[in-house]
Amino acid sequence: MRTIFLTGFMGAGKTTVGKALGKALNLPVHETDDDIVEQKGKTIKKIFEEEGEVTFREYETSALSTTPKENVIVSTGGGIVMKEENRKLMRKLGYVILLSCDLDEVKRRVGNDPSRPLLQKGEEYLKNLYEDRREFYHEADYIIDVTDKSIAEIVADIQEWLQEKGE
Ligand code: S3P
Repeated sequence: MRTIFLTGFMGAGKTTVGKALGKALNLPVHETDDDIVEQKGKTIKKIFEEEGEVTFREYETSALSTTPKENVIVSTGGGIVMKEENRKLMRKLGYVILLSCDLDEVKRRVGNDPSRPLLQKGEEYLKNLYEDRREFYHEADYIIDVTDKSIAEIVADIQEWLQEKGE
């Protein structure tokens, strides 16, 4: 099976859905954020503080290019879609599945989680970020509105779509 990339804004449920989908499909799950943290030996928050967002984005691209090329689920960081290079790479290597979630629901879920540096920049910033990324997120092979769906429903939905794709 081609690699499955889960994309979406912070709080959309990429990590949780990735794990559940991995179980359902019996596939390993990678997290680009986890790969970066492991490789650099520091948290995302520290990387943002000490090296800046631009450098973090470079780490994301290299994490993406070193993930296995098949039979794996990759939960990506919410900002991975911002670089065209990343969007192209994901679509070349596999299926890109967007977990789309309303901003109000995102806010309810993540609050101002201190481990996510971009949440510390205020409401207006978050709203603009959400709007600015919309078109990039929508360059996906499949889009699910996850706002009111349970994890089981989302997983079933993805499985059905994969079956239609002959996977
Ligand atoms: C980010 C999302 C985070 C993490 C970093 C930046 C973003 O991942 O990569 O804090 O730019 O949206 P999650 O989407 O898993 O929260």
